[in-house]
Amino acid sequence: MLYSPKVQLPVARQRWQALSHTILLRHQVQLWICHLETGLASVSGNKWLKLKYHLTNAQAGGMKGVFTFGGAFSNHLCAVAAACRQSGLASVAYVRADKPDLANPTLQFCQQQGMQLHFLDRSSYRLRHQADFISRLQQQHPQLLMVPEGGSSADGARGVAELDLVTTPDGLADTVICATASGGTLAGMISRNDAAVLGIAVVKDASLPAKVLQLLPPGRPVGQWTINTDFTGAGYARFSPELLQFCRDMAQQRLYVEPVYTGKALHGVLSLIAAGRFPAGSRLSFFHTGGLQGLQGLHYRNLITASDLALLSGLMAG
Ligand SMILES: Cc1ncc(COP(=O)(O)O)c(C=O)c1O
Repeated sequence: MLYSPKVQLPVARQRWQALSHTILLRHQVQLWICHLETGLASVSGNKWLKLKYHLTNAQAGGMKGVFTFGGAFSNHLCAVAAACRQSGLASVAYVRADKPDLANPTLQFCQQQGMQLHFLDRSSYRLRHQADFISRLQQQHPQLLMVPEGGSSADGARGVAELDLVTTPDGLADTVICATASGGTLAGMISRNDAAVLGIAVVKDASLPAKVLQLLPPGRPVGQWTINTDFTGAGYARFSPELLQFCRDMAQQRLYVEPVYTGKALHGVLSLIAAGRFPAGSRLSFFHTGGLQGLQGLHYRNLITASDLALLSGLMAG
């Protein structure tokens, strides 16, 4: 069980799941999946860890809540909306959308949690990291603390660094692994400095290593870390029929992953193992970063069927 800040966030529980796969048997590699579950589905995985210090800081600074940024189907926005509601904080989101659609399931959920939504077209949204743009928004929301996109800041990484991903039920892992997009989760795992760290990029973003470096605590030694960019496929949120089938196969052993983050990254890990990139006897730990709410958005856009939505979300489990 992890330290819970004063804000009313749910308690998070760590759960380990051993993956079975012919590739693992063939290469004599162990792969443990680490889940981090809270009472709120949308605040599971890396979300709770990345948000807790932001919300604690908002409360300690006497702020009324937070404002943040995300895409129209963003897991981060759902997590902020639900965690703020639970903590009695207000939430405001700047959403990337050329054609705003308030009926999409992610934004519906956010609104139900009380989040106030503003829309930015793609070119305005690109300004989200610029200091003068942020300071203009900060002037508009003097009572709200800015949380960067994905919750990826030094505070976000600090929360992630509290999670022990190395001590699996079968012994210490050699390498800890996660899906990487805005880099905060990876930075937190690196700053713990207790194993080699591998991020599997799920976005095409050449600036990702620099973003991660910026989030590491200055002056503290870090161990070996890499970002693998071989599995982004056609880009963020794009996936092949083979990847979707992989997610279905995982669901058969009650490991529920989606093809945008966790499924894409896990499929990449198994490809690396199949290519002999980990010696026999390796023990790997993969952080399940959550994000199953995104399946509803994939179904809403007709990218997966209703039966895949139910299967991959775990709703068909007996
Ligand atoms: C489900 C899921 N996994 C992984 C990530 C990647 O985390 P990060 O943006 O910290 O790299 C995200 C984005 O927050 C996510 O929603």
